[in-house]
Amino acid sequence: MELYANDTKTHDESRQGEAFESNSPKKHFNKFFYVESYGCAMNFADSEVVASILENNGYGSTRQPQQADLILVNTCSVREKAEQTVRKRLTEFKKLKQARPGLLVGILGCMAERLKAQLLEEEKLVDIVVGPDAYRTLPDLIIEAGTGQKAVNVILSRDETYGDIAPVRLDSNGISGFVSIMRGCNNMCSFCVVPFTRGRERSRDAFSIVAECRDLFEKGYKEITLLGQNVDSYYWNNPETNVSVTFAQLLESVAQIDNSLRVRFSTSHPKDITDEVLFTMAKYHNICKYIHLPVQSGSTRMLQLMNRTYTREWYLAKVARIREIMPDCSISADIIAGFCTETEEDHQDTISIMKEANYDYSYMYFYSERPGTLAAKRYEDDIPEEVKKRRLQEIVDVQWVLSNESNKRDVGKTFEILIEGNSKKSDQEWMGRNSQNKVIVFPKGNHSLQKGDYVNVLVNDFTKGTLLGTVSE
Ligand code: SAM
Ligand code: SF4
Ligand code: F3S
Repeated sequence: MELYANDTKTHDESRQGEAFESNSPKKHFNKFFYVESYGCAMNFADSEVVASILENNGYGSTRQPQQADLILVNTCSVREKAEQTVRKRLTEFKKLKQARPGLLVGILGCMAERLKAQLLEEEKLVDIVVGPDAYRTLPDLIIEAGTGQKAVNVILSRDETYGDIAPVRLDSNGISGFVSIMRGCNNMCSFCVVPFTRGRERSRDAFSIVAECRDLFEKGYKEITLLGQNVDSYYWNNPETNVSVTFAQLLESVAQIDNSLRVRFSTSHPKDITDEVLFTMAKYHNICKYIHLPVQSGSTRMLQLMNRTYTREWYLAKVARIREIMPDCSISADIIAGFCTETEEDHQDTISIMKEANYDYSYMYFYSERPGTLAAKRYEDDIPEEVKKRRLQEIVDVQWVLSNESNKRDVGKTFEILIEGNSKKSDQEWMGRNSQNKVIVFPKGNHSLQKGDYVNVLVNDFTKGTLLGTVSE
C-alpha cells in the first residue's frame, strides 16, 4: 500500500504505468515501439533517453500496444508492490505476444537489473532484458532477440550518464521538463534497493546539462526539474580544466539561462543539502521555493538502523535552517512506517517529527523488505503487516491535518502561477503550480492567458490536494 497526501510531478502516482508518445512525425518510421514507465521521475526521464536511441534506429513511438513491434516496460523495484504490478502487465503482454508472433517484449530499468535474466530464462515473460546503464545496446539486443537469441545486458557502469543523448520528450505538456543530472546512489540506506539497481553515483557533464536546459527553454519550456537520487552530492570535475562544479553552482547556471525559466530539483538527502544550495535558492526568484527532504523516520534509533547518517535533532536543525533562509519555502518528506524493530515509541517519534517539521505534504509507505538490501541481510522484518498498516494510516492522518492547515494558511495569499494546462475537471479552468509546488486551479474567465504563461492568482479556497483561486487583477 502506498499513500499520498498530495502529489508533485516527481512523485506523480497518476503517471505510473502510463504509456507515452513523442511528437516526431510518424511517417519517418516503419517500426513502432510502445513504452510504459513505472517508478520515479528518473525512470520516466530514462524512457525519453530510450526513445531517442530507438528513434535514431528507425523505431517511432506509439501509445497503442496493438500497433507496436516492440513493447518495453521500464520498471521499478523499490517496493514489492511495484514489482507485482509489472509482473501483471508482463503477463498481459505475453498473451498479446502469443497472438502476434514476432512481437518483442522487453523489460528495462530497476527490476531488469535486480532480476537479471530470470524473467527471460525461468519465467519466459520477456525477450529482452536491459538494465539502466545499458540502453545504448538496445538496438543490438533487439536484433539478437529477433533471431531468437537471449538478449540480456544488465552491466552497470561507473561513468554512463547518457549526457550526449538528447532525450525525445514523450507526451510532455511542453512546459515542464525533467533533466537527469546524475545517476546511481552511493548511500547505503539499509532498506533501499536503488544502489543495487542503479549502481554507483556519477555526475553528468555540467555543460551538457545546461545545454539541454537551454534547448528546452528555447523550445518553449518554462520549468526544469533537475533529477538525481541525491542531487546535493552532484559534483562534476571538468577533465579539461580540472575545475569542479557543485550542485549549487549548477543550480545557479540553470537559473541564469532566463529568469522566466523555473528551476526545481529532486531529491535532496538531508545530510548533503548545504547552505550554499539554500542561499542560491534564496538568491534567485526563479528557483522554486520547495524542498523534498525525505526523513524516513523521526526516531534516531530507527535512523541509525536505516543508515541515514543523521539524527532526529540534526534533521530538525536542517529544517530550521531552511526556514530561516527561506521562510516561504515548502517542505515535503518521504516516510516509512514499520521498519525492522520499530516500537510504538519510535512510531510516535515519527508522528512528532512530522508535526515539528510541519510538512506541507508527504509520501508515506510501509516498509517492504527488498532482497539483497542491507536490512534484508541484517534485520528481521518483524513488524506484523497489520501493525505497519495501522501506523501508516496514523501517519497519513497526521499529514492530512498538516496539509490542510498548510492550505488554509494560503487562503488570502496571492501566488505567481505557471499555467500548465486545463484543469482535470474542466476546460473552463486553468491548472498551474506556485513556486512551493502546490497545484492551483482557477477559472479562465475573460483573461487572454495560455499554457506557459505566468499569472498572479489569489487563493480563496482549497479542496483536499488543490488550492482554488481567481486571477488577481
Ligand atoms: N533518493 C531518495 C532519498 O534519499 O530519499 C529517494 C529514493 S526512493 C526511490 C523513494 C522513497 O521510497 C524513499 O525515500 C523511501 O521513503 C521509500 N522506500 C525506499 N525503499 C523502501 C522500502 N524498502 N520500503 C518502503 N519504502 C521504501
Ligand atoms: Fe535509496 Fe538512500 Fe540512495 Fe535514496 S539516498 S536512493 S533512499 S540509498
Ligand atoms: Fe524505482 Fe529504480 Fe526509481 S527502484 S524508484 S525506478 S531508481
